[in-house]
Amino acid sequence: MNDTNVTWHEHQVSRFEREAMKGHKGCVIWFTGLSGSGKSTVANTLDHKLHRAGLHSAVLDGDNVRHALNAGPGMLRETHGESFAERFGLGFSAIDREENIRRIGAVAQLFSQAGIIALTAFISPYRQDRDRVRRTMDAGEFIEVLVDTPIEICETRDPKGLYKKARAGEIKGFTGIDDPYEAPLAPELRLDASEKAPEILADEVIGYLVDRGIIPSIA
Ligand code: ADX
Repeated sequence: MNDTNVTWHEHQVSRFEREAMKGHKGCVIWFTGLSGSGKSTVANTLDHKLHRAGLHSAVLDGDNVRHALNAGPGMLRETHGESFAERFGLGFSAIDREENIRRIGAVAQLFSQAGIIALTAFISPYRQDRDRVRRTMDAGEFIEVLVDTPIEICETRDPKGLYKKARAGEIKGFTGIDDPYEAPLAPELRLDASEKAPEILADEVIGYLVDRGIIPSIA
């Protein structure tokens, strides 16, 4: 075996080497917006488009992650008992949301470092929490996308019936009703999800990724 061209790598496989293998860069596309704004729909539409083009993407979605990695106390109580659930279960208080976003940021960064286009779809209502995640990443790695849908429209859609419950006082601290949502001041992208279809919005994100040289042109 001719091993003269084989270099021993002391350290982990570099980002550059992973990109060369995959033909695109790893990054985090961080969708933020109200419940019912369309974050998950756009993220999943984008995921399908990237996948069809032979690119490696993955979706981390609020509702799914809150069933596993960031399970709430109710779920953990059954499997792990009361004190564990109290200590580690995540709800929707400001500090619980902060921890939710911190963990998701760390996981998304691992995906990105593995060369994957990580699509995250969480309300992530606090500017400080999102900015902290941004600061953990390389320049250009964190792409913040505001899914900009007025609350009146989210409330009309109300896909899970949660706005109705929040208005009735059955859910306390619901984002946009009696809990804050701090829109990003300078997101990389703002999507008008009140009028445009998810397909169009996903194409807007793809346009951004192509322009920045993160993915090749897939038109
Ligand atoms: S975040 O604020 O911590 O980013 P995340 O995106 O994980 O929230 O979860 C939001 C989802 O949890 C909503 O789409 C909704 O289905 C559900 N939910 C339950 N309670 C609340 C609440 N008080 N505020 C917002 N969403 C809630």
